[in-house]
Amino acid sequence: MTRKVLTIVGARPQFIKAAAVSRAISRVGDRLTEVMVHTGQHFDENMSAVFFNELEIPAPAHNLEISSGTHGSMTGRMLVAVEEVMLAEKPDWVLIYGDTNSTLAGALAAAKLHIPVAHVEAGLRSFNMRMPEEVNRVLSDRVSALLLCPTDEAVTNLRREGITTGVFNVGDVMYDVALHMREKARAQSDVLRRLGLEQGKFVLATCHRQENTDDPARLGAIVEAFRQISVGTKLVLPLHPRTRKLLNDATREKLSNVILTDPLGFLDMVALEQAAQVIVTDSGGVQKEAFFYGVPCVTMRDETEWVETVALGWNSIVGADTARVVSAVTSAAAQRPVTSTATPYGDGRAAEHVVDHLLRG
Ligand code: UD1
Ligand code: UDP
Repeated sequence: MTRKVLTIVGARPQFIKAAAVSRAISRVGDRLTEVMVHTGQHFDENMSAVFFNELEIPAPAHNLEISSGTHGSMTGRMLVAVEEVMLAEKPDWVLIYGDTNSTLAGALAAAKLHIPVAHVEAGLRSFNMRMPEEVNRVLSDRVSALLLCPTDEAVTNLRREGITTGVFNVGDVMYDVALHMREKARAQSDVLRRLGLEQGKFVLATCHRQENTDDPARLGAIVEAFRQISVGTKLVLPLHPRTRKLLNDATREKLSNVILTDPLGFLDMVALEQAAQVIVTDSGGVQKEAFFYGVPCVTMRDETEWVETVALGWNSIVGADTARVVSAVTSAAAQRPVTSTATPYGDGRAAEHVVDHLLRG
């Protein structure tokens, strides 16, 4: 019997996660068929198409072209449109990833149509309900039938909320992707040459989290930290469109020493991550990739869902305070953490475990 999986993606990190699972689905032949829906949340060529190309993800069967606007407006429009696709496609499973507005729209539409939801990256918590992502993941988990957790900690978080049925630690699909891309990125990307960088002699930065970009005080403190770091070392900042829209002449002036780029394709990004001396970020995925590639990370947030990276000494949580960011980057550059043999993110076959559960469930 063939089971049909309707996969909902929309944002950059979801394309990356779905790449691993789509590949695993294609390996089980006609036992599972996948229909991919792209909500359109991320739409620029370098925020969307480049990942489908580089990660060889099959083209989405449906592109809903819904992006931008307030959270309510975006999620609401997606809810209407994904429901229509679900009614037409009649899937056996709806597969959702992570914690974006696309995730929540998929979860809600499916739950109300009584289609079982499988949530990859279930159970993550920042315990900060002011984050849109925390709202999306708590609500998505509540209506999911299959909660595919990346870590033991995520399983524990769900247990604390009374969710114990259908919960499995499958490992982190991003770890699978990191292993898959490590050599390929080194071999195929020429980003170091293009940007005039040398292995181990630059800091890589990303910044896009709403609580940082939309708070002028926090964004100002981060920009000042980047200015100070860029005085002493090369600092590369691929700019997320959210952040790009919020920079003004004064902030751009402060960033005059920083190597600013458009969002990078995945091969270039993975190549830069592996070559960086230190990574400074507010991204969820980038914190983990730093860990996977053995690069110390400084996280400009007040908490993290990826607590293992901190416990093992590879990640410092410093908020958006200029002095703390600069000092943490300086310390991380001066002394590397002790290498650990711990593997908190699974066995590199998380995507296969996801597929096993979809076949069994
Ligand atoms: C979203 C997710 C966030 C995730 C991030 C990954 C939610 C609530 N947030 O945040 O969890 O970490 O994606 O990158 O779902 N834009 C463009 N071109 C694009 C994409 C976005 O110009 O290709 C613009 C949008 O029009 C909007 C802004 O960037 O003005 C923010 O995009 P949005 O999707 O709302 O949120 P992200 O900050 O990307
Ligand atoms: N990424 C990328 N190019 C960039 C910035 C990030 O390919 O210019 C990748 C990064 O390697 C990671 C993912 O995008 O795999 C993280 O996405 P993002 O930071 O947008 O979202 P988050 O993980 O915070 O939800």
